[in-house]
Formats: sequence, C-alpha cells, structure tokens
Amino acid sequence: MIMDKPRISIAGCGFVGLVSAAAFASRGFNVIATTINKKEANLINSGQSPFYENGLDEILKKAHELKNLRVTADNYEAVQNTDITFISVGTPMKEDKSIDLSYIDNVSKQLGKALKDKESYHLIVDRSTILPGTSRNLIGVNLVENSGKSIGKDFGLCMQPEFLAEGKSVENTFYPDRIIIGEYDKKSGDTLENTYQLFYKEYFSQNECPIHRISLESAELVKYANNCFLATKVSFANEFANFAELIPNVDIKQVMEGIGLDYRINSRFLGAGAGFGGSCFSKDVNAIKNWASQNNYDSKILKAVLEINDDQAIHIVNIAEKLLKDLTKKKITILGLSFKAGTSDMREAPSIRVIKELIKRNVGNIVGYDPKAINEAKEYLKDSIVYVNSTKDALKDSECVFILTEWEEFKNLSPEFFIKHMKTPNVIDGRKIYDYIDFNKKLNFKTIGLK
Ligand code: UDX
Repeated sequence: MIMDKPRISIAGCGFVGLVSAAAFASRGFNVIATTINKKEANLINSGQSPFYENGLDEILKKAHELKNLRVTADNYEAVQNTDITFISVGTPMKEDKSIDLSYIDNVSKQLGKALKDKESYHLIVDRSTILPGTSRNLIGVNLVENSGKSIGKDFGLCMQPEFLAEGKSVENTFYPDRIIIGEYDKKSGDTLENTYQLFYKEYFSQNECPIHRISLESAELVKYANNCFLATKVSFANEFANFAELIPNVDIKQVMEGIGLDYRINSRFLGAGAGFGGSCFSKDVNAIKNWASQNNYDSKILKAVLEINDDQAIHIVNIAEKLLKDLTKKKITILGLSFKAGTSDMREAPSIRVIKELIKRNVGNIVGYDPKAINEAKEYLKDSIVYVNSTKDALKDSECVFILTEWEEFKNLSPEFFIKHMKTPNVIDGRKIYDYIDFNKKLNFKTIGLK
C-alpha cells in the first residue's frame, strides 16, 4: 500500500513526543503536537525547545522553517485534523514505585471523544511505556467507550515502544536498529509500517532495520525486557566488580572487556561504577517487578538488579571510609551530580544515593559541582550540600572527592591537579575514568572493582 504522507498528531511534548514531532515535521510531515503547558507550547511554536537535547534545536529549526509543526492544548482539534495520533505522555513512578497510568487514562478518554466525530479512519499509536495489557484494556476500552466506535473497523490501535536514550534521542530516532510494532489488527500495523516506509525511505534502502510486527502485549513487554536487560547488565558488571575487590591484581574493566568480546554478550552496558540512574531503568524495573508480584510472581532477578544498584552507593561510601577512617569532620567533594554525562537530568542519579548515605553517616560538609546539572540538583538535594561553580572551588580544602558522573572535563584532570587543589588528595573514582596505575602512584586512589 503506497499512500501520501499521513498527517500526524502527538499527544505530549516531553522527551519522546517532541523529538518525534520535530523529526516528522523536519521531513515534511504535517504535525500537530499537544501539551497542556502553555509556556512550553509558546516556546516550541517559536521554534525553540523547552529543554536541551543534542540535535533537537536543529530539527526544530527546520520544522519551524517548513511551517510543519504546530503546538496546541486541544487533543480534539489535533485528532480532527490528522490521520495518526501518537500517545507520548509520561508514565512516572508513584511513591510506592508502581506505575502512574493517570495521564494515559486521561489522554485516551480525550482521544476517544475526538474519534466520535471523526469521519475517516484514524490510527492511535501508543509510544509511552505501559504495562502489558494496558493498550488493549485501558487505552482500547477508553477509546471505544468514549467514541462509540469499534477498533479495527473505524480506527486502528498500535503499541510501538521507543528506545531513545537521553543525549542520543535524535540520532536514535533517525537511525533506529529496529522498529517494533505491536498491532491490534493487520490494518493498524500496515498503516504504521507504511508511514515508516515513507519516513525512513532512504535509511531503509541502505541499512538493515527489521520491522517486527507482533501483538500489542508482546510489544509492551519488549520495552520492559529491553530496559530490564540493560539494567541487569550494569548490575551484573557491578556484582563482578565486587568479586574483583576480593582478590589483588584483578581489573574489572579487563574482565568485562574480555566477556564483551563474546559475540553473544557484547561489551555495551558492562561498565561497572556508581550504578544506573535516569528516568527509565529504575522506573521500568520497579514497574514490571511490581506488576509481576501483583500477578503472584516474584521476580528474583529484578529484585537483585535493584538491590545491587542501591548497594553501590553504600559500597562507594564504605570504600571512602576505609581509606579515610573517619569522614564526619572532613570536607567531602562530589564531582558530577547528573545521572550520566551529557544531560542535566537528576532523576534517580547515583549522586543522590551517595549523598544520602554520607549524610546518614553524619558527614555534614559536602560540596558539589556539575557542569550542567546545578540548577536541577538544587531541586533534588535542596540545602543538603553546598553548590559551587567550578571543580577548583569544589576541591578547595577538601579531603576526599567522589567522581560520580563521567563528564569530559573530569576525565581530563590529572593526579597533580587533585594534589594541588585539595587539602588531602583522596580520590574515589566512581565512574572508572582514571588510569589507576598513574593515580595510585601519586595519591590515595580507590576505584570500583579493584582491591
Ligand atoms: C535508557 C535506555 O538506554 C533507553 O533505550 C530507554 O528508552 C530509556 O532508558 P537513558 O536513561 O537515557 O536511556 O540512559 P542510558 O544511557 O541507557 O544509561 C542509564 C544509566 O546506566 C546511566 O546512569 C548510566 O550511567 C548507567 N550505565 C550505563 C552504567 O552504569 N554502565 C554502563 O555500562 C552503561
């Protein structure tokens, strides 16, 4: 089936929603995105992004020049004037660590009401991460009840998980390694696949990119399995880093590189360190683990993945305590607050866990520096630490420094720099960015996965 470029609407202007909207619009698709945040809508309508993401400004600019992207608060209008609606609203973690589906519930009811007055066939595609069964039993039911129409006949339903990593989401959107389409019926899947045949025409002609057509529920579970597997790799590397600390002369990096050469394993996401953070890993591992347990299945693997990750913070503080004996009256520095380099995002950042642990052990004098995340860090850490604007200021009078984010500007620091700027140069490398032979020779140096 060859068709003209369908008109696209996208509910939600967060990370995934806005990158997708700008990507479609920059390639000549007509896009209406929706958000209830007026300030956000005004910014995007003027061609600017409300948050920083590598490469996003350029495609937003292109979309703005082509006059292809418009943002409104009105999902009804968006549905009437488009052919496909993608749902990209948040599915955050609740206080009890289960998933909050209220935005999905709300938006699917609104879309259902809009479908009621739609004369032509319309496709609804969920891109938000949702528990298995949610597309059919919550989104599908809301759409049918509020439109009075039937899925399959009057409108279609798909679930297409996204695999965008922060800092790389534009690249991941334009050059995917695969496209997973969960479909209610063949027509729904065909409509979405054809849209991507148009969007990725050139890319598909030159690259291998499987399009995997499966059930809605399998697609929902693919997303969880994907993130849980990556999180498991990180915790696995951290567990072996702990084994490595039991015996001299083992370097965990060499061990992980060794197994990464096995084509069945590969070396990605085997970096031992301060543990994983970010908006997805912890949220998704907890959500699917809780869901399984509500269905009377207790996940042993995922429980261990989370425990190992939480323990990394305690472990790093133990390493420092062993080195300095008493941390309480000393000035301690944290270099790197964001959950990974290249982002100001503080969600579930290892720095939060390490600082919490230090405070629990009565360390009162903590100074933090991050090249990008100071403002966000203040929201999360409040006045529990002192914030400074440079590495030098952070190290002044300090007796121990923890490196918790692998920023380039930290990678370039030499042992001499720490010796010059600290009161006592004790360095704990929580991201394994320094050459331990060089550092170990010149100052008190400890890192993960090395006795
Ligand atoms: C992740 C997934 O990669 C992405 O596909 C999904 O859609 C959203 O979640 P993101 O949270 O942006 O993306 O970050 P990612 O680069 O995957 O890293 C997650 C965490 O794992 C970071 O805290 C990172 O520092 C940590 N990590 C990663 C390690 O500790 N070791 C590694 O080897 C790799």
